[in-house]
Amino acid sequence: MGDATIDRIGRASIDDIDVRGRRVLLRVDFNVPMRDGQIVDDRRIRAALPTIEALQGRGARIIVVTHLGRPKGHVDAALSVGPLARRLSVLLRATVRQAPDVAGVGAHAMAAALNDGDVGMVENVRFEPGEEANDAVFAANLASLADVYVNDAFGTAHRAHASTEGVAHLLPAVTGRLMARELKVLGDVLEDPRRPLVAIIGGAKTSTKVRVLNNLMDRVDLLWVGGAMASTFLRAKGLGTGRSLVEDAYVDVARGLLESSASEHGRLALPTDVLVTANPDGSTPSHVVAVEAIPDDMMVVDIGPDTAAHIAADCVGAATVVWNGPLGIYEVPAFAEGTRAVARSLAGTSAFTIIGGGDLAAAVESAGVADKMGFISTGGGATIEFLEGKTLPGVAALPEREAIGPVAR
Ligand code: 3PG
Repeated sequence: MGDATIDRIGRASIDDIDVRGRRVLLRVDFNVPMRDGQIVDDRRIRAALPTIEALQGRGARIIVVTHLGRPKGHVDAALSVGPLARRLSVLLRATVRQAPDVAGVGAHAMAAALNDGDVGMVENVRFEPGEEANDAVFAANLASLADVYVNDAFGTAHRAHASTEGVAHLLPAVTGRLMARELKVLGDVLEDPRRPLVAIIGGAKTSTKVRVLNNLMDRVDLLWVGGAMASTFLRAKGLGTGRSLVEDAYVDVARGLLESSASEHGRLALPTDVLVTANPDGSTPSHVVAVEAIPDDMMVVDIGPDTAAHIAADCVGAATVVWNGPLGIYEVPAFAEGTRAVARSLAGTSAFTIIGGGDLAAAVESAGVADKMGFISTGGGATIEFLEGKTLPGVAALPEREAIGPVAR
């Protein structure tokens, strides 16, 4: 087991416990994008395979728990985990049993019927109102399905729900391989990065990223800001931004970050050229302009080629690059080139590249360079909150290795 699989805090992991013949409640985040009942992207399911296969290989009886969507405590057939169980069966080349409920008679019957190495899945845990309420009775009911709890759901670790937080206090609780790796890789960015460390932060809104920017400014050697949120920073510099998405309430915050970047903190870099157009849906012609020349009747929809080249050049000398959020409206093909160009450049550097957020992960995959990245985080909101420096409740509930108790080997 390499060091990279051990999280920074030293929480107990599946390698610290004996699971043979034991029923393991495995919380995963299989909240994958779906369209017409079909899985659009199974990255989150594939990311949990190392944990599931390790548990299978050690003779655990695995009860997989996930949420899908936001059914808000009601049964919604469109959000049944059936397609997820079937995809997991294909990936594992083994039958994954399915329970008709979450922690009722059916789930208990399924759990009792599992043999060593078997995998079963209960229904969408958010069909139960007690899940999001972190209800103690529901958590106890879930816990009664198993002997051990394994949390591999980094993507949901920012939620204090029964299956991510409550149950961790009721069973011996350890991290899965994915959770441990997420905590190690992202923890290293904040606490012990290989330098130079470059961060690239994109996305639509400054408001959703301002705490990340604040937390990273002290830690990075260089911070690039792209995406629509860069317009708020350009406005803070006194530049005209036309009809771009600018959050007026954050212009002062952006100005403050720019001023502090000039002094004690890492340097903050902004686009020098941008792609502008009249409509963000791609229906009108677009062209590249210098940031000093954004027309009044146009909006910024992507970074320009000079900016992409600058970012690429800065990343050549980096040891670590952490990137969260696309640099343009990447879902419109005409506005995806800035994000794709940077992704391709990163693929050619020797920097350890960390990609955060589902949108960006999809963009990197569509650019054909996902396998060239050092690590693609499975978290969306969880990755952002981690990079903000917040304690994630699903992580805080997991004990350190020394405290793991009676099932430690
Ligand atoms: C995610 O997709 O970010 C996680 O699965 C959490 O989902 P939620 O935002 O519905 O809690």
